[in-house]
Amino acid sequence: MIFDVITLFPQMFDALTQYGITRRAAEQGSFVLHTWNPRDFTTDNYRTIDDRPYGGGPGMVMLAEPLAGAISAARQRQAASGVKKSRMVYLSPQGRLLTHAVVKELVAQPEEGLILLAGRYEGVDERLIRQYVDEEISIGDYVLSGGELAAMVLMDSVVRQLPGVLGDAGSAEQDSFVQGLLDCPHYTRPEQFTNSKLFNAEAVPPVLLSGNHAEIQRWRLQQSLGRTWLCRPDLLAVRDLTKEESGLLAAFQDATKNLKS
Ligand code: ADE
Repeated sequence: MIFDVITLFPQMFDALTQYGITRRAAEQGSFVLHTWNPRDFTTDNYRTIDDRPYGGGPGMVMLAEPLAGAISAARQRQAASGVKKSRMVYLSPQGRLLTHAVVKELVAQPEEGLILLAGRYEGVDERLIRQYVDEEISIGDYVLSGGELAAMVLMDSVVRQLPGVLGDAGSAEQDSFVQGLLDCPHYTRPEQFTNSKLFNAEAVPPVLLSGNHAEIQRWRLQQSLGRTWLCRPDLLAVRDLTKEESGLLAAFQDATKNLKS
């Protein structure tokens, strides 16, 4: 997958290319990332990239022309490396919410290049958005100081879904949201906490030590259903449950009621 990012702070993207799973994915060529600094596309001695808003008001607005220069350069580079269509995305709070469905949509078009515009200040000249941007995407109902973190969130969530990126082939399918449910709880050593300053006594759920893989699968599915019911009932409202799932959830709900009463 090919990403080109328009940003005033290219070094921020080292967080993606220098660490963890996304670093390995970049090294093995699962994705390519190029950054373009609009400052390099200015024509004045001061390398100006912003100016005051017409009509007055606080803050500064990013100039359209350096951004257009950077976007055109990114498009040309993508075309030269064989990309048939570049999709131009502006990260902004007024965009479509980034959900797993949107991530899947992006992953399903690996032949498409993505150009991500990370804005700063009060935003960018509206004419640039109208004439260059295919789509706006938001990562949530809050305002960030710039689009860089949002662009990285988008890229991270897309890259981990690309074939061969996660070491354990099953991991991506088990993530929260993939089956329309939250992930189940996870445990590792030690098997038993004894009372201490750090923890109260608590054991790992015995089923996980049973070695019975079918039972473990059923327990995990039940926990996923239960957690989704408790924490994100909106997800259950849009997902049909199988007969087995309905039974598992009913048992979880009963157990929860018994705990409360
Ligand atoms: N830029 C500023 N806030 C943002 C948000 N919530 N999502 C995407 N881009 C943004």
